[in-house]
Amino acid sequence: MTQDELKALVGRAALQYVEAGSIVGVGTGSTVNHFIDALASMPRPVAAAVSSSTASTERLAARGIRVLEAGAVERLAVYIDGADEIDARGCMIKGGGAALTREKIVADLADRFVCIADASKRVEVLGRFPLPVEVIAMALPQVARRFAALGGQAVQRPGVLTDNGHPLLDVRGLSITDPLAMETEVNQWPGVVSVGIFARHRASLCLLGTAQGVQTIHY
Ligand code: A5P
Repeated sequence: MTQDELKALVGRAALQYVEAGSIVGVGTGSTVNHFIDALASMPRPVAAAVSSSTASTERLAARGIRVLEAGAVERLAVYIDGADEIDARGCMIKGGGAALTREKIVADLADRFVCIADASKRVEVLGRFPLPVEVIAMALPQVARRFAALGGQAVQRPGVLTDNGHPLLDVRGLSITDPLAMETEVNQWPGVVSVGIFARHRASLCLLGTAQGVQTIHY
């Protein structure tokens, strides 16, 4: 199977965690796009979705799924999203699609984070994928220097602003052995809007697309 077929497989498999008539949290990315397409085909549909990006909102709306503002919802049973990397404890790097801040906001509303990913995303230690960090523009050089002190090389993502209007750094060369500690540390640096380490909001379970089928991993 191709990587895209594996993404489609787990996108469809995620439907088993979505209750008809409920409000579902929806992430961003090519794997989630398959999930949105599957969601639109449910015989008994969801009541609405809370979306983590303009791109997902547009795709949901185009498929006739009502989208609510995150601020209008107090709690979601489940948030479904992809990942750029996921480790053995369900900690993730996210933000390859620049949606990390809104993804964390919607994930924070949810009782359960279901990660959908093809097998290439499973890693032992987070950090081979460049770590995305959304930063207020005036703080970019100082945040980059702070990463350099930790052994990381931070480069601004060219030509990209987030849905919130901020630039992003992509940080290479980190080996994130303690994701929660690094997330906590970086979150405190002035000018950081959010860091793409999801340890505090790690996955509750992962549907991993493999050549043998969907593997369900509970954390
Ligand atoms: C979006 O900002 C990211 O967090 C995505 O969830 C992540 O990049 C996974 O994307 P794909 O599903 O496209 O691989």
